[in-house]
Amino acid sequence: MGMWTRQRGARRGLALLLAGGLLAGCSTLPQTPLDPKGPVAQTQTGLLLYTLYIAVGIGIFVTAALLYVVFRFRARPGQTGVPLQIRGNHLLEIVWTVIPILILVSVAFPTVEAAFSTATPPEGALTVRAVGYRWWFAFEYPELGIVTANELRIPAGQPVRLELTSNDVIHSFWVPKLAGKTDMVPGRVNIAWIQADEPDVYLGQCAEFCGDSHANMRFLVKALPQAEFDEWVRQRQAMAEGPRDLSPAAARGRELFESTAGNCFACHAVDGTKAQGAVGPNLTDVGQRSTLAAGILENDYENLKAWVKDPAAFKPGTTMPSHARLSEQDLDAIVQYLQSLK
Ligand code: CUA
Repeated sequence: MGMWTRQRGARRGLALLLAGGLLAGCSTLPQTPLDPKGPVAQTQTGLLLYTLYIAVGIGIFVTAALLYVVFRFRARPGQTGVPLQIRGNHLLEIVWTVIPILILVSVAFPTVEAAFSTATPPEGALTVRAVGYRWWFAFEYPELGIVTANELRIPAGQPVRLELTSNDVIHSFWVPKLAGKTDMVPGRVNIAWIQADEPDVYLGQCAEFCGDSHANMRFLVKALPQAEFDEWVRQRQAMAEGPRDLSPAAARGRELFESTAGNCFACHAVDGTKAQGAVGPNLTDVGQRSTLAAGILENDYENLKAWVKDPAAFKPGTTMPSHARLSEQDLDAIVQYLQSLK
């Protein structure tokens, strides 16, 4: 085997390996529509696979027919002159018009049905208003009086009606295992719904290019057993009265947070306190979130401190300013205050 063919063989092997890996790996990725975990995603994945199978079947049939004709009717040695010229065959024309019509109809009916069923939340679904901001998500529960950010808690096994909109540019709400993408458009409310059949944490991601940190605009959907969800609602509603039992350092952090020293209150809200800013995420329960900065950092002491100190280092283009001017002690106090919010 020459150098050239050996290289080509290796490249072909690699391509096959990649294609196989992609197909096999897709169902185990954290964000994949091929592993649906709720009725909306199941409907959409079912439709995707149904049309895929039909398309693959057609592709195989057409390729096979083409190859048959190419080899069966190729010019043979010794043949001369023009082959027999045939034009028009009513039976064939009818067959290859009617079959595609039937195929298209068989795809159209389930598509239209799915389009309506996935856009119409079932009666009695819990309503969540999700608002896209550059680059984070606000989640409001109007019936429960709760506002939070970047982590959407829902009861498992229950439908959740989503009112999707945006505060600035067009974003898109996407939780691959629960539902396909729905755009979040400023000045308009798009209705969608999700349901997670099992308690778990599902990854979400903004799916519409929206600027510098589009890729850093993620969120979590935490589906909890109904009793746990009810308990969270009760606990979270109680937090509307403001933080209690702060340690001396956390109390100092609260002072900084609510004064021009830290200036956090200008953009962020903490329920039950002076901080009522509506520019950045509501931080009432930031201490109980597992991630920071819209799903890009694990929520621990060091990350929180580094994030507050220099957000742009993690999220290019963020409107949150640097707090490098604060002393280490002041930064620590603010972090302790934030961690106490749970
Ligand atoms: Cu928001 Cu991309």
